[in-house]
Amino acid sequence: MTGSSSWTLGRVAALKGELKPPGDKSISHRAVILAALARGTSRIDGFLPAEDCLRTAGILQRLGTSIRFLDEGRTSLEVDGRGLGGLSAPSSAEPLYCGNSGTTMRLMLGVLAAHPFRVTLSADESLAARPMRRVTEPLGAMGARIEAAGEGQAEHAPLTVEGGPLKGMSFELRVASSQVKSAILLAGLHAAGTTRVREPAASRDHTERQLARLGAGFIPPDDGWIGVEGGHQYAAAAFPVPGDPSAAAFFAAAAAIVPRSEVVLTGVCLNPGRTGFITAMDRMGVRLTVANQREEGGETVGDIIVKGGADLKGIRIAGDLVPRLIDELPVLAALACQAEGVTVIRDAGELRVKESDRIAVMAAELGKMGAKIGVLPDGMAIEGGVPIHGAEVDSHGDHRVAMALAIAALGAQGPTTVTGTECVATSYPGFKADLDSLSGGR
Ligand code: S3P
Repeated sequence: MTGSSSWTLGRVAALKGELKPPGDKSISHRAVILAALARGTSRIDGFLPAEDCLRTAGILQRLGTSIRFLDEGRTSLEVDGRGLGGLSAPSSAEPLYCGNSGTTMRLMLGVLAAHPFRVTLSADESLAARPMRRVTEPLGAMGARIEAAGEGQAEHAPLTVEGGPLKGMSFELRVASSQVKSAILLAGLHAAGTTRVREPAASRDHTERQLARLGAGFIPPDDGWIGVEGGHQYAAAAFPVPGDPSAAAFFAAAAAIVPRSEVVLTGVCLNPGRTGFITAMDRMGVRLTVANQREEGGETVGDIIVKGGADLKGIRIAGDLVPRLIDELPVLAALACQAEGVTVIRDAGELRVKESDRIAVMAAELGKMGAKIGVLPDGMAIEGGVPIHGAEVDSHGDHRVAMALAIAALGAQGPTTVTGTECVATSYPGFKADLDSLSGGR
């Protein structure tokens, strides 16, 4: 079903050493967008040079933003901001291709909603199947026109947006989603009056932190509502991007699975909207500590130290914890296979509309390794302590599934081959090399 590249992995003696995970994906997208909307030249350091974030940068370039990569690895860049509302129509009619990146599509819809030209955002097969009405509806209510070919309501990419003057509004989101919240706030930066958003549970607040830091008219939380007052042009800034906790979580889980491990993951973003996996691992009994906490660029950053060899127990993951570890659920499912007792995941129906249906896919693929997983409408029940064995498993084109299965393989008897691993390029091209560096492998 997916491409041709694969990894074969099995048990290793230990994971040892220090690793600085690549730049945070969510913050990299936001940094380059907010830099493009600033007045003056911003510098971004620690940018994630993976396909998804490069799509956002490439689209901003097509909209007239000058972006200069300063190093070969494309982690440092300078962005000449165009000011609020200052992007220009692309010179060719070719759609702006978002690839696999939901963050690119949803955040850029928020930006384009305020720009008075017509442009189409297109997607790969996976992204074209993901729900978009959650963002096209509020942006439409603010005044943007967004159409999908052959559909009354704009639910699926490709989406054609014709922006224009927007009016501020208040929205209550049906699901906690930072992408939707951010799209509305980015549109709200350009809108007349005040735009407010409230979520049923708190999702990551990177956009809010950056808007507050930039002096862009952010209105801090009040009874769960956050907002932005439109029309605050803001000046360019330095955007230091911390390490990605979602990348760090794979190695934390790996170290917890492999008995004699000790890994130090440095410079990781510890935004409370992202550290749910630390809470979950702690409850499972993982020997995990956090050190060197500091503030950088509006975010808390620190080191995560994980030691292997602890006896793990199954836990319940539900409610407000879920948005705080939504992207880590595939690897937590792999870890739960190694814990005594049942791990129950509920309230995670959003997993079904990620890059793949992560509930169905993780249950099926870990099942091939002998795991006993019950599928629930909004989660799964993983029976721990059942020995798992090597198998041929597939990513289904989903980067986090590929990486989670690689970590599961470290706790299996016999070799596992993960197929369709090229998709990891969307978020973490160096994942396998980093895993090998910690395990002393190739
Ligand atoms: C993201 C928000 C989350 C997350 C995604 C990145 C972001 O999605 O799953 O990987 O950068 O805002 P939702 O906003 O759909 O919950």
